Amino acid sequence: MSGQHTEFIPPARPVIGEAEIEAAVRVLRSGMVVQGPEVAAFEQEFSELVEGRHCVAVNSGTSALQLTLLALGYGPGDEIIVPSFSFAASGNAVRLVGATPVFVDIAPDSFCLDPAAVAAAVTPRTVAVMPVHLYGHPAAMDKIMEIAAKHGLGVVEDAAQAHAAALHGTPVGAWGTAGCFSFYPTKNMHSLEGGMVTTGDAQLARTLRLLRNQGMEQRYANEIVGANMRLTDVAAAIGREQLKQLSGWTKQRQANAAYLDEHITAAATPPVAEGATHVYHQYTVRVAGDRDAFTARLRDKGVGSGVYYPTPIHRLLPYLVDGEPGPWDLPETERAAREVVSLPVFPSLTADQLARIADGVNSSV
Ligand SMILES: Cc1ncc(COP(=O)(O)O)c(C=O)c1O
Repeated sequence: MSGQHTEFIPPARPVIGEAEIEAAVRVLRSGMVVQGPEVAAFEQEFSELVEGRHCVAVNSGTSALQLTLLALGYGPGDEIIVPSFSFAASGNAVRLVGATPVFVDIAPDSFCLDPAAVAAAVTPRTVAVMPVHLYGHPAAMDKIMEIAAKHGLGVVEDAAQAHAAALHGTPVGAWGTAGCFSFYPTKNMHSLEGGMVTTGDAQLARTLRLLRNQGMEQRYANEIVGANMRLTDVAAAIGREQLKQLSGWTKQRQANAAYLDEHITAAATPPVAEGATHVYHQYTVRVAGDRDAFTARLRDKGVGSGVYYPTPIHRLLPYLVDGEPGPWDLPETERAAREVVSLPVFPSLTADQLARIADGVNSSV
């Protein structure tokens, strides 16, 4: 099918609808624009996604991770186990608090941390594991929680890409010591920029609230050293509108993924672990041949795609050791970085567009 006369299908299509615009204007007119009633309501409503845990809104997903690691007291000398096959924030949050990221390989059938590799990486200096629910697929939290309990480790779930994903019915963000979500525009729901920490620990939630606001609960009664990572009420109001639509959007993403699973024959479609609820932030196939040629052919047929992530974190400049990748043994990470291609799966895809994506893949490999 030629894409020359058909509209280009972008890899993602963030929604800023009338409801979001009206909500933003309403807040702007109210004059209460920073961490006010909208933020409190957003936190309350979001807690329904994570079995009623405490929710603390911040200004980005990266801030959520960094503040959580700070609140848990991690710093220099501490090792934190993270996947290298992730967005740079997974390593950056660890480095920003002065701790050391220990990169561990992924399981090829989930793109998430391999629990056996996590267990093998624990040392006396390990303080925490940060599994990433990559692409909207939950990490093997049951096994990771067991390992963490055995060694007394904290578990910080990076759920930036996985709003409403679950494993064996328990939602992400409700498993670990804390969960961290992102509301960046391309995520399954957004607030322009924004993030949320979820936790069952009331004391940790309080520390996070202090840390995001200069260490204050009462104005000018600073209790600890803190940052300014507050969310605006405009962002929270947009997030609340998006949250109302999340369930419908998630079902649509899953239906789109089911169509692509059925109709893509020329590439390896994304696996789903037993008991996993995948929310398809990305629909990611593996292409064994020349990936650049494949994505170029797809683009010629009017189908956009993305590669998340072509360079694993341990190969990024700030993570090199004497100009070389460190002593990591990450064969599945390296293979995934070579093979993955994410296809459009956003909720508003039409039947015609879905057919064009599947046909485009099948005729481009
Ligand atoms: C896995 C992962 N972790 C963390 C983040 C950071 O979120 P943010 O961009 O909101 O800071 C992102 C997204 O951008 C992400 O994909």
